[in-house]
This record gives sequence, C-alpha cells and structure tokens, in this order.
Amino acid sequence: MKKLWGGRFDDKPSDITERISVSVHYDKRLYKQDIRGSKAHAEMLNKCGIISNEDFEQIKKGLSLIEDEIDAGKFEFKRSLEDVHMNIESRLTELVGDAGKRLHTARSRNDQVATDTRLYIKDEIIEIKALLINLISILVETAENNTEVVMPGYTHLQVAQPVRFSHHMLAHAWALSRDLKRLLFALDITDSSPLGAGALAGVNYSTDRTITQKLLDFKFINMNSMDCVADRDYMLDVLYFCSVCAMHLSRFSEELILWSSSEFRFIRLSDKVTTGSSIMPQKKNPDLAELIRGKTGRVYGNMIALFTVLKGLPLAYNRDLQEDKESLFDSIDTIKLSIEAMIEMLKEMTVNKERLKQAVFSNYSTATDLADYLARKGLPFREAHEVSGSIVKFCETNGKDFFSLTLEEIKKFSDCFESDIVEIINPENSTERKLSLGSTSLSEVRKQIIELKNIIEKNR
Ligand code: ARG
Repeated sequence: MKKLWGGRFDDKPSDITERISVSVHYDKRLYKQDIRGSKAHAEMLNKCGIISNEDFEQIKKGLSLIEDEIDAGKFEFKRSLEDVHMNIESRLTELVGDAGKRLHTARSRNDQVATDTRLYIKDEIIEIKALLINLISILVETAENNTEVVMPGYTHLQVAQPVRFSHHMLAHAWALSRDLKRLLFALDITDSSPLGAGALAGVNYSTDRTITQKLLDFKFINMNSMDCVADRDYMLDVLYFCSVCAMHLSRFSEELILWSSSEFRFIRLSDKVTTGSSIMPQKKNPDLAELIRGKTGRVYGNMIALFTVLKGLPLAYNRDLQEDKESLFDSIDTIKLSIEAMIEMLKEMTVNKERLKQAVFSNYSTATDLADYLARKGLPFREAHEVSGSIVKFCETNGKDFFSLTLEEIKKFSDCFESDIVEIINPENSTERKLSLGSTSLSEVRKQIIELKNIIEKNR
C-alpha cells in the first residue's frame, strides 16, 4: 500500500517500523468524528475559494459512502496505512480521485487528530452525563423511599451514631453531583477547536477557522496553532473526572459488598447482579460491585499514563501523543460500564429494614446522645462523656444493652438521669435531635432531596 507521505523516501519502512507505528486497530473508533471533521474542513476550503464546488461535492459524497461502508462493516482498515485518518483519506482518493487528494490542503494530521479526539470526547460526555444523572436519580429515589429507616452510621468502620439510610444514600448522590460538575468542566475545556492550525505554525492559505468551529459546534477556538496540536490537557481533565468518579463508585461498591455479606445483611442484591460459586453452593457473590472496585485501579493508571506521556514533551506535536488514545478510550468505556452496573445494582437492591433497626439498636449508637443529655443538665461535656463511657462498659461486662438497663442501674452513674432517658437512647429519636444544617434529621434530609432534584432537573 502506497504511503501518503512517501515522496522523500527511497526505502520502504521495515516491518518493526510499521508494527510500532500502527494505531488503526484502536483509533478506528474515531471514524465518525474524522469524517465529520473532514466534511467541515472541505466545506470551509470551498467557502474560502480554496477548492471548487465540484471537488467539495465529490469529497462529501465520498466521505458519506465511506461512513456507510464502515457502519456496515464493509470497510477494510489496512494496518499499512497506520491510522484511521490515512485509511479514510486513502479510500476517499480511491473513490473520488484527485478531489480526495485535495482534502488535506491546509490541514495536517496533527490538527486533525486533535479535532477528532475532542469531538469524540464531546459525544461521549453527553452519554456519560445521562448515565450519571440516571444514577443520581436512583439514589435520590432510594432515599425518598426509605426516609424513615434508621441505621448505624460509622466512623473507622465502628458504629458511631444513628443516621437515616436515606442520608447515607444522599451522601453518595452529592459526591456524584460533584462528579457531574467535573464532567461539565472537562466538556468546557474540550469544547475548543484546534482545526486549521496545520502542523504547528498555521497554514499558507487564507482559511477561516471560525467556519469549521461553527460547523463542528465548538464553543471556543484555540488561538495558538502550536498549542492546538500539542495540548492534551482536555484529555487529562476527562481522565481525572473518570478517576474521581471511579473512586466514588468504588467506595460505594465496598459498602455494598460489606452490607450484602451475611455478617451485615443490611441489603440484598438481586440474583441478576450476583453470581454463584462453582464449588460452594451457598454463595452469592457481589461481582458487579467487586468489578467496579477493581476497575478503578486501571482508571487511575490511565490518568497517570497520559500524565507521564506528556511530562517531557517539547512543543509542538510529537509522535508520543499517539499513546493518548488507548488510555482515554479505556477510561471512558470503563466509567460508562461502572455507572451502568451501579444503576443496575441499586435498581434491584432490597433494603433490609428489620436488620438495620436491629443493628442500630444493639450497638450503643446513642452513647453520644446520652452524654449530651447529661451535658444539658449541667455536667461539663468531658465528664458527661466519661459517664456515658462507663455505662457502655458496664453494659458490656453485664451482657446488657442500653434498653435493658433499669432506671435504678443507670442512676448509679449520675443523679441527673430521669425517666425521660428512654427517649434519649432510642436511635430513631436520635436522628431527630440533629438540628444543624445538612444533618440526618428528616427535615434536613428532605431539603437535600429537593436540592438534588433541582440539580437533576437542571441537567436533564
Ligand atoms: N495517529 C497519529 C496520532 O494519533 C496522527 C498524527 C500523526 N502526525 C504525525 N506528524 N505523524 O497522533
């Protein structure tokens, strides 16, 4: 196959040159963006009087035909043509002759590939955004359906204080709503056209870059031709979004794994999202959650990989930059899969209300409330804390919980205790004593639900 850049070469590339250069096996997924970009470029060339109407029509027709061929799986991508750009251009020339050869006027693969990847990211972000909003909605819905359920809240994975199950769900929803902001930030950074920069210095034709900017629906235009072809920070922003979002999904997955274990039994994951063991018949494994957690490592790795590729690069384009795409594609694919998997798990999740109640009632989760009770009666908080601690210790040594203590027993620890203490040690009442903004009380939880619904509506 004749190289598109063969003019000044006498020898053919050796086998290893071809093998290490080839990227078409993964960058072919940019074909739609490549064709869109090329059509816009051809239209601009035509409008600026650089190519004829006839050539423009031929190019447009040829590119549409190629798109159909690829869509139908009838296009033969050739490794010898290196990448998606040269495969398409070469086929175009096959189809429409000289007009195809004029397409690359006032363009370089350097601004072309930067354009394609930006267009690709913009398309993907629309899909990721929809998935993310879907996931946030399901969390809000789950919260709304369980506002009355109280569970132990943890610090250090030790029972700390009672919280509403819905409050816990909404905590994850808030984290994901920040991911949404990060995603939209990445979109804003990506939404800038590099097309028309040429190889690095600009082009010797009086082109109009704003025409391609508008045709390709870019919000901004990159004003420095060297930056146009050297910049990959937009990809880093996407990879950073993917990393943080994967981390959030991974932390949540960890909880779903714990909660669905026979030790916790807080939730039940449906058969549709769990798998059995080939040897242990009793098992129901939370594979989806484990895979989300596991994939997070690769998503982080992809971000570091691109950072490392970029670290030592002089301006402007260097071939190293070809190594950007596999990380990008992999992280985008992975985050989409992970969000979808999380949605499926939550849709099918059963909340074990009885078990949550039992857990929050049996773990001294209201020991802080007990101390606050004494403090309100005038005991300095540090002393109140000490007293409450001694009561826990007493219970532990005597096989009791707060609810099986008699008033007489508890009064031995402090005279301040009166019969209203039963109200205080009740975990369900505890959540309602939380008065601060953003706390786990019902009214504060309801506020959060309203705010998150607003965010969902604004972003739909
Ligand atoms: N496949 C190349 C890449 O992904 C396209 C740009 C090639 N440019 C060049 N000067 N060799 O970066």
